[in-house]
Amino acid sequence: MTVLVLGSGGREHALALACHRDPDVVAVHVAPGNPGTASFATNHPLDPCDCDAVVSLARDLEADLVVVGPEAPLVAGVADALRDAGIDCFGPSAEAARLEGSKAFAKEVMVAAGVPTAASRSCDDVDSVSAALDEFGAPYVVKDDGLAGGKGVVVANDRTEALAHAERCLGSGHRVVIEEYLDGPEVSLFAICDGTHVLPMQPAQDFKRVGDGGVGPNTGGMGAYTPLPWAPDDLVETVSATVITPTLRAMADRGTPFVGLLYVGLALTSAGPKVVEFNVRFGDPETEVLLSMVESPMAQIMAAAARGELSGVDGLRFRYGAAVGVVMASEGYPVSPAKERQVVAPVDDEDVLHAGTRIEGDDLVTSGGRVLIVLGHGETLAGARADAYRRIDQLEVSGGFHRTDIARHAAELQAADELADEAASYPENSTYLTDGESS
Ligand code: AMP
Ligand code: GLY
Repeated sequence: MTVLVLGSGGREHALALACHRDPDVVAVHVAPGNPGTASFATNHPLDPCDCDAVVSLARDLEADLVVVGPEAPLVAGVADALRDAGIDCFGPSAEAARLEGSKAFAKEVMVAAGVPTAASRSCDDVDSVSAALDEFGAPYVVKDDGLAGGKGVVVANDRTEALAHAERCLGSGHRVVIEEYLDGPEVSLFAICDGTHVLPMQPAQDFKRVGDGGVGPNTGGMGAYTPLPWAPDDLVETVSATVITPTLRAMADRGTPFVGLLYVGLALTSAGPKVVEFNVRFGDPETEVLLSMVESPMAQIMAAAARGELSGVDGLRFRYGAAVGVVMASEGYPVSPAKERQVVAPVDDEDVLHAGTRIEGDDLVTSGGRVLIVLGHGETLAGARADAYRRIDQLEVSGGFHRTDIARHAAELQAADELADEAASYPENSTYLTDGESS
């Protein structure tokens, strides 16, 4: 197969690598790509939202599969244009991409399909916003209805701040969704979909706030890890049955089947898992850690999904152990990241994914907020963390910073669990069971 990946971030670097590792793949092309993808694939300068240009490039390359990384090209109809041209595309139609493109639409589908999610109100004016804020109370959750590049959601205890965000969204001509606050740890669950069938990946967790301990503004994601030792064993099964399958059925019933990656953002509340958000593409940086653990041929699986043939795929194999990804960000991220800063990092290391870098003369410099994602692997999360942090210390981004607590708590929980398991297999050692954190 010849595969074309659209996009230029760490997620696309990881997707291109996963295709490159598939034994059926002879060539990987990325548009526009980055210095990391250039080390093993061919980059093509192109606007991935330009439908005609994408179709024409895919035709020239005789691409057997196009994988769309970011949401913007999907919302712009790139997958429709490719399918109309007879080219297999892993990514939903513009209509189906509204699951991410419009929070109000996503809520409408979830309510119709009986999917557990936060109660919400769609508001077109300040009065209805105000009434909805009072109905749900603090903490207030205010969402811009349209795509806002990760800046559309404000969760605040301060009513004035919540109202101010709603007014900003309304002022730019967007509807506002006010929601009930969902309390519980967040999980990202990705499902490969062919319109009817589902192949779920293992769950991952993302760290959205910029600072250690979960402080500061929301970002695109500062790190991620998988697996989640603290999540219920039946989480994937439960979410497939209560969320993914009903959503696919609802989308098919509307005449807009969902083909591609459904990103289910969940809060594990005391009343069970509830949907915080849908995205219609792989998450970033969860994809980087997840794909580094996949042993199955990803290009073949995405091609099967694109053709509606997922029922013929056995399953998705993940390797044993854990993966942790830590984002190295440029100074000022997420508000105003410094560009053109010097970067010292390899371009051909599968564990150093490029996100916001570009080549300037002989130098590598920053071109975006999230600069690199550094992966670590190990039998345990503690081992994977140590590996990731050891690697990140060997890189340099002038003025750059990263969180130091990615997967720390989960690694501690996993270690405590293992201690308890060990104690359980030696009954005479029962003090572990009574003293252990997890007992
Ligand atoms: P979204 O873009 O919808 O994923 O929202 C961004 C982030 O805001 C999520 O990852 C959550 O951390 C938070 N968030 C969104 N909706 C809710 C909610 N209903 N309750 C609590 N937190 C939320
Ligand atoms: N990591 C969050 C996202 O991709 O939306």
